[in-house]
Amino acid sequence: MATFTLPKNSTIQGGKTHKAPEGATNVKAFKIYRWDPDDGANPRTDTFEVDMDKCGPMVLDALIKIKNEVDSTLTFRRSCREGICGSCSMNIDGLNTLACLKPIDEVKGDVRISPLPHLPVVKDLVPDLSQLYAQYRSIEPWLKSDTPPPPDEERRQSKEERAKMDGMWECILCFCCSTSCPSYWWNGDRYLGPAILLAAYRWIADSRDEATGERLDNLEDPFRLYRCHTIMNCTRTCPKGLNPAEAIGKIKSMMVARQG
Ligand code: SF4
Ligand code: SF4
Ligand code: FES
Repeated sequence: MATFTLPKNSTIQGGKTHKAPEGATNVKAFKIYRWDPDDGANPRTDTFEVDMDKCGPMVLDALIKIKNEVDSTLTFRRSCREGICGSCSMNIDGLNTLACLKPIDEVKGDVRISPLPHLPVVKDLVPDLSQLYAQYRSIEPWLKSDTPPPPDEERRQSKEERAKMDGMWECILCFCCSTSCPSYWWNGDRYLGPAILLAAYRWIADSRDEATGERLDNLEDPFRLYRCHTIMNCTRTCPKGLNPAEAIGKIKSMMVARQG
């Protein structure tokens, strides 16, 4: 698969301008990163002027309007349009976020949109997430227990045990955090990054799981866990308000505790 990696803070310019329809009085310009692996051309930025009186309030509404009415080749992922599926993550106005949750009127001036940074690009706003999903598989994100469940019953948790998973089960794997993390930019082939480490801690913190030692062994590595330098970009950028940096800190504390 041909891919193109967008540098951080890319200032790729050029491209086409699609003017607003005649008579539009409330116009906002969307400057959107474009790259097509099949046309042999360099990446460019296309400008789409949108009549905001005929557009929904979120950035995703504008992208769908542009695709439906102006340029059907514009490519992006989306599904739920309510912050649940994690598909529409992208860089909007310099921040990684979900297009469906980002109000257009929060952006002053033109709305600049590019794919999540530091990942290969498949096309336009679609990044290649293969490495992140391979890393997700590597933490074995499923319940591991040798104890059989009680007959005809679920494995039960107390309210307190269940509460320990709050702030983790809500993760939608949008990867806004991992792609905002400088350590992940430079060592993403070996460092797991905040999204995957948050997912790893979700299973470590689950009282029904009996593989904590094995899971910690799997993370005990100079790169997989310890490339986090507590820069906190991940927590600042998470569109679901989660705190991956705190989860990483808890894993590190467990490592220290079992050594002592
Ligand atoms: S706290 Fe750790 S994981 Fe989060 S951005 Fe910083 S280095 Fe990356
Ligand atoms: S922690 Fe937040 S930013 Fe990171 S993948 Fe999960 S929902 Fe997305
Ligand atoms: S479309 Fe599902 S999170 Fe935005």
